[in-house]
Amino acid sequence: MKNILCIGAGYVGGPTMAVIADRCADCKVTVVDINADRIAAWNSDELPIYEPGLDEVVKRCRNVNLFYSTDISKAIREADIIFVSVNTPTKTFGAGAGRAANLQFLEKTARSIVEYAENDKIVVEKSTLPVRTAQAMSRILHSNTKNLKFQIISNPEFLAEGTAIRDLENPDRVLIGGMETPEGQKAIEEVASIYAHWVPRERIITTNLWSSELTKLVSNALLAQRVSSVNSISALCEKTEANIDEVAGAAGRDSRIGSKFLKASIGFGGSCFKKDILNLVYLCGHYGLPEIAEYWEQVVKINDFQSRRFVGNMLGAMFNTFADKKIAIFGFAFKADTGDTRESPACAVCLQLLEEHARLSIHDPKALGNAKLDLEGVEGDISYIEDPYKAAEGAHAIAVMTDWDSFKTLDYQKIFDSMEKPAFLFDGRNCLDHEALYKIGFNVYPIGKKHLTHF
Ligand SMILES: NC(=O)c1ccc[n+]([C@@H]2O[C@H](COP(=O)([O-])OP(=O)(O)OC[C@H]3O[C@@H](n4cnc5c(N)ncnc54)[C@H](O)[C@@H]3O)[C@@H](O)[C@H]2O)c1
Repeated sequence: MKNILCIGAGYVGGPTMAVIADRCADCKVTVVDINADRIAAWNSDELPIYEPGLDEVVKRCRNVNLFYSTDISKAIREADIIFVSVNTPTKTFGAGAGRAANLQFLEKTARSIVEYAENDKIVVEKSTLPVRTAQAMSRILHSNTKNLKFQIISNPEFLAEGTAIRDLENPDRVLIGGMETPEGQKAIEEVASIYAHWVPRERIITTNLWSSELTKLVSNALLAQRVSSVNSISALCEKTEANIDEVAGAAGRDSRIGSKFLKASIGFGGSCFKKDILNLVYLCGHYGLPEIAEYWEQVVKINDFQSRRFVGNMLGAMFNTFADKKIAIFGFAFKADTGDTRESPACAVCLQLLEEHARLSIHDPKALGNAKLDLEGVEGDISYIEDPYKAAEGAHAIAVMTDWDSFKTLDYQKIFDSMEKPAFLFDGRNCLDHEALYKIGFNVYPIGKKHLTHF
């Protein structure tokens, strides 16, 4: 039986290893983390992350061939293949602060592997990393005095939160990069054979190490670029009576452009897009390509601009003052079907509203716990409300920040009746029926299309 270990039990390590265990009955999969609370949650009925379909997969495999543990040294000793799925956030200090990836967790993991390993192993980079990190990994791992040999493989993860299980079970592609040596190729084959349990061979792409590392950053940058492109055009639509859904819909019908990720909103969020583009920006600077760095940085700047523009529009509509007005925030997660709030544009919007002394009542079906943590210590009048009707009661405005399906089926007549008048609704996701809301009496402000107002 092949012994697979994953170091890092987060949004990537948790679901990925659950699906590997589910699909590979001939593998024993162990997931470890330095965070004991997280491991305890993986072993409980309340998993530490919300992901549709995850509970079922974990329940099928846990304590059969899937184990969550804090005993990192034992797990390393026993493993044949080690996936490293630790966090790689943007550096907040020192050289490259605000752009470069903070690799301290990765390096600590490599050093743990050196310390506890007793035989040769394959080490798989699952985290998103700057191109050429495998070289550094290899140097650290081969600093061992036990004469152990390690093969480094890059196998970036392309799952999207909210659809992680579906993405893992039916991926567009699996990317595996390795050294162009016989040992490197053998290691690629070992990792490919795990995925081949359920992924058709033609969807398993193998490349050299550096292409694989760089592809992950580039994929996220290209996706985020589409969001910023369409959002930049949403601003122009608002000035010209063009309608962003019509423009994006018609432009996206060109099959070379395509419709995916051409949806105007308050902006992209999540732990990856901003961090990975900034990392790409940093790498371009590092390699002496400032113009290319500036080009990609603009994608992030447009994203920040879009949430500022949204709040600016709200302020203009609501007579230039939020002071002491209650505003209901519908959604705090960075997108629907996840409780993850990392880099959520909702947070940026809330902070700006609080600066203007608005009173906030925040509702989200899955993310209230994380919202509380994100806004801990922030000054202002904030309440966290499980019931959307209560959240909107007595409010001057609703700001929709996340496209949760549950928001589409609320009784907006009942909500309208309970609000202060004139009642405003700002749809930061263009996900509600604006005409119907207008007929009820709301003043409706979508993104990139005509405002529907009763004034
Ligand atoms: N979240 C996503 O949608 C997504 C998608 C694709 C790739 N990625 C990439 O995958 C990586 C992990 O992301 P995530 O969202 O799962 O992060 P996360 O913060 O949810 O999980 C990382 C885990 O690693 C643990 N950890 C850190 N240092 C450790 C150590 N030395 N030993 C053991 N455990 C340690 C942390 O305690 C944490 O639980 C990142 O590089 C990210 O860019 C994320």
